[in-house]
Amino acid sequence: MVAPDARAAGEVAADLVAAVVQASPHPRIGLATGATMVGVYGALVERCRDGSLSFARTTAYLLDDYVGLDDRHPQAFRNVIRVSLADHVDLPTEALVAPNPNASDLDGEARRYEEVVGSAHLDLQILGIGGNGHIAFNEPGSPLDSATRVVTLSEATRRANARFFDSVDDVPRQAITQGIGTILRAEQILLIALGPHKAAAVRDALEGPVTPEIPASALQTHPDVRVMLDPEAAAMLSQGTPLG
Ligand code: GLP
Repeated sequence: MVAPDARAAGEVAADLVAAVVQASPHPRIGLATGATMVGVYGALVERCRDGSLSFARTTAYLLDDYVGLDDRHPQAFRNVIRVSLADHVDLPTEALVAPNPNASDLDGEARRYEEVVGSAHLDLQILGIGGNGHIAFNEPGSPLDSATRVVTLSEATRRANARFFDSVDDVPRQAITQGIGTILRAEQILLIALGPHKAAAVRDALEGPVTPEIPASALQTHPDVRVMLDPEAAAMLSQGTPLG
């Protein structure tokens, strides 16, 4: 769907999340981070505050996180999700599930988290998209059946995310991320993209060939993907491209 603007996109995305949360006795929701999510998470917080939505029965799963940031670092995604959502809704503290990006055995932790997410059978996975077509931290070239693993971030991604750090040198070089295969196991996927800087990636993801070079193109193989865009992010799409 193409909403009139970013705020409306956030509200409609929140409608979809709320519908999934209200439809299940024990909702399992995968959460992305990034600037794109500020609007949808803000809308969900408002709905919790006015009593029209509750996360009391929900379990939330983090999509990815940087490796090597201090546990209290504000840009550690486990902290970003608390500040932008979890601390402002009635999600039980123990119901926010995340990988441990500072585990001594990172590959073992990735295997553990793959099992945790896989056995959760997520009802909904919320996704953003990187300017280079990445989803989570699955960079171009990621196998379309990849599992949770430790990855090295592309320089394009480090530069794109440097706006949240004092300098690009402070952006971690590695992350632990759910794989594309992991993401595709969710029952439903909600892709949100806002702004002109995402227009090419959105076009490639939705209209281009399914290829590891555009990790988001793997979403074309999933049976239930909803796409929420503002007009700028939709600007390069052909007429009639299905948006779920
Ligand atoms: C990071 C995250 C992705 C997110 C992307 C876009 O790479 N790992 O999950 O989709 O950034 O972030 P933004 O919404 O800030 O453009």
